[in-house]
Amino acid sequence: MARHCAPHTRAEEQFLHDNEFRQDNHSHHRCAIQASLRATCWCWHPTHSDQLPGANSGLGFEVAKNLSFYSASYHVIIASRDIAKGEVAVEALAKDPGLKGTVSAVQLDVTDDASVDAAAESVKQLHGRLDVLINNAGIFMRGEPRQVARNIFATNVVGYISVTEAFLPLMCEAPAPRLIFLSSSLGSLSNASDPSSAYYSPLGAEYRAATAARNMLMNQYWVRLQQSYPGKFKVHGADPGLNATNLADTPDQLRNRGAVEPYVGGERVASVARGDRDSDVGRVCGVYGVSPW
Ligand SMILES: NC(=O)c1ccc[n+]([C@@H]2O[C@H](COP(=O)([O-])OP(=O)(O)OC[C@H]3O[C@@H](n4cnc5c(N)ncnc54)[C@H](OP(=O)(O)O)[C@@H]3O)[C@@H](O)[C@H]2O)c1
Repeated sequence: MARHCAPHTRAEEQFLHDNEFRQDNHSHHRCAIQASLRATCWCWHPTHSDQLPGANSGLGFEVAKNLSFYSASYHVIIASRDIAKGEVAVEALAKDPGLKGTVSAVQLDVTDDASVDAAAESVKQLHGRLDVLINNAGIFMRGEPRQVARNIFATNVVGYISVTEAFLPLMCEAPAPRLIFLSSSLGSLSNASDPSSAYYSPLGAEYRAATAARNMLMNQYWVRLQQSYPGKFKVHGADPGLNATNLADTPDQLRNRGAVEPYVGGERVASVARGDRDSDVGRVCGVYGVSPW
């Protein structure tokens, strides 16, 4: 059952009292929601990571930073299952002189329909529309396969459907809405079945199956929205490549395997959100072009 409206965060209250924002809200502001980010703590620059023990830098935060630093026309809503983490991230971005756009936070747990619906209601009340939805929340687990599969699919697949369905009505209010699903080369059936591919491996089967399912979801929303709203929506997959986050293993272990710093993957996803990859709409936008299914 949906709650009526999530309580406003401090940052949102600030926006409500900002007349200029109210005026811009329905004109040229592009409202982008990050369907989750990690905001416990992070490193602003790779060379500083050692100075922050236990620090991490999730892709969601880097995409939020990238877009809000890119243009004053973005208002980025950071959706986080722990609202305190989201508010910490908003405050950090707000303090940074590089910020050009505006940012706010909303509580949203992709596995909890009530929280998803409340977040959508909150965005509706505050902004009236949503231009860009980036489905970014994700988990990776190891362990007993059935339990791992249940948990991963609940977040990485059902969670994406829940968030997308809840926010689609608000996206219909935007003039040129854009729906993005995080993806990965690990989800490619072509790679997985090619013995000469680096991805020909039985490891992480549940995560990989969920990533393949995300690709199908992206395809299905693309087909559905083209038919229902010809020429209105753009739907993409965005593959950030291997990034040194806390998703699986530690960032240092991932660096040793060639992972890039999360701001690099963040730019790859943000470029899709900005429209730089529109020629690849309906596909998975990877580092070197369109990633294979
Ligand atoms: N890192 C890579 O190399 C890589 C490559 C390809 C694709 N991806 C994809 O990129 C996305 C982000 O991953 P990441 O590398 O940035 O990992 P990360 O640092 O572990 O961040 C994952 C984020 O998802 C959030 N999350 C998990 N469960 C959630 C839930 N139920 N509701 C709301 N938020 C939830 C986490 O929130 P908490 O802070 O509350 O835990 C965290 O902010 C994932 O979908 C992943 O599959 C990553």
